[in-house]
Amino acid sequence: MKRLMVTGGLGFIGSYFVDLALKRGHQVINVDKATYAARGDLDFHDRENYEHVRADICDLKHLPVGVDFIVNFAAESHVDNSILANQDFFHSNVRGVYNLLELVRAKDETDRPVFVHISTDEVYGTNQEGSYTELDRLNPSNPYSATKAAADQLILGWKHTYGLPVMIVRSCNNYGYGQYPEKLLAKTIDFLLNGKRMTIHGDGTYRREWLYAGDNCEAILLLLEKGHVGEIYNVSSNEEHSVIEAARMVAATLGLDPDESFAFIPNRPGQDLRYSVDCSKVRALGWAPKMTLATYLPEYVRLYKQRA
Ligand SMILES: NC(=O)c1ccc[n+]([C@@H]2O[C@H](COP(=O)([O-])OP(=O)(O)OC[C@H]3O[C@@H](n4cnc5c(N)ncnc54)[C@H](O)[C@@H]3O)[C@@H](O)[C@H]2O)c1
Repeated sequence: MKRLMVTGGLGFIGSYFVDLALKRGHQVINVDKATYAARGDLDFHDRENYEHVRADICDLKHLPVGVDFIVNFAAESHVDNSILANQDFFHSNVRGVYNLLELVRAKDETDRPVFVHISTDEVYGTNQEGSYTELDRLNPSNPYSATKAAADQLILGWKHTYGLPVMIVRSCNNYGYGQYPEKLLAKTIDFLLNGKRMTIHGDGTYRREWLYAGDNCEAILLLLEKGHVGEIYNVSSNEEHSVIEAARMVAATLGLDPDESFAFIPNRPGQDLRYSVDCSKVRALGWAPKMTLATYLPEYVRLYKQRA
């Protein structure tokens, strides 16, 4: 049993992680300031070994005592928002990480938690062919990915200069029930169930890798156990679909005609054509994704309808 400080554990991926960590017997202190993206339907609030601290990671003045790991999910996470107003992205994604690093540094060397930072495949930028490894250079294309890349660089600098125990996890596009309906699949279900055509930026042919959030969290938990401190790990299903392909799969799952389900709007600036990451490092530790998009979509739609 480990004592974990999770940040952003009321959000989409963080909530899957908290649930899994509690089920595995870990103790969780969840620091989340509850932005618009926080989930209101979570059932772990009364569980033993769980505590929620409503706070901004930028405002924390000290870390809880005896924490083994900090797992930092807290972030502003939606690219479109970052293009319209980037201040909150700099605040949470860069300043927040800076504050957490400084709090770890302030601890006695013998008492420092490992700082596990949840980053993204978007930090590498677009990739026409092949898959980026953890050694590839960062080349972000929009304010969201730029703030995530900035945080990764801070972490590496703090590791080298101050010897902080850190780990960076860069995962691809996640899907699953509970995702705020601003992100593609959740928004598509929401629009189509409400009789609206889903809007697609550009022609939707840009490609992403799609990973079930539960599989991602299994990888992160495995990395706490078996990952090497100081390392970076990519996490991906390597299941690749264009955005329009994935959205058409949703329409088909809902029994709608995909040709009648979408409206195409101007592409967003900084749109990357393709993301792909090599995740042989985490797979070598024994992780493999269990879910595929086609398998999960009927369950996703069922859960969404049940809630509506
Ligand atoms: N969603 C994806 O597909 C994806 C893919 C790769 C990486 N990531 C990364 O995973 C992490 C989680 O993503 P998500 O989609 O679950 O995000 P989300 O937007 O659903 O949730 C973010 C959570 O963080 C909290 N939060 C935000 N700023 C905070 C702050 N300053 N202090 C305390 N709490 C704060 C919010 O209240 C919310 O509960 C992010 O760091 C994101 O960059 C996401």
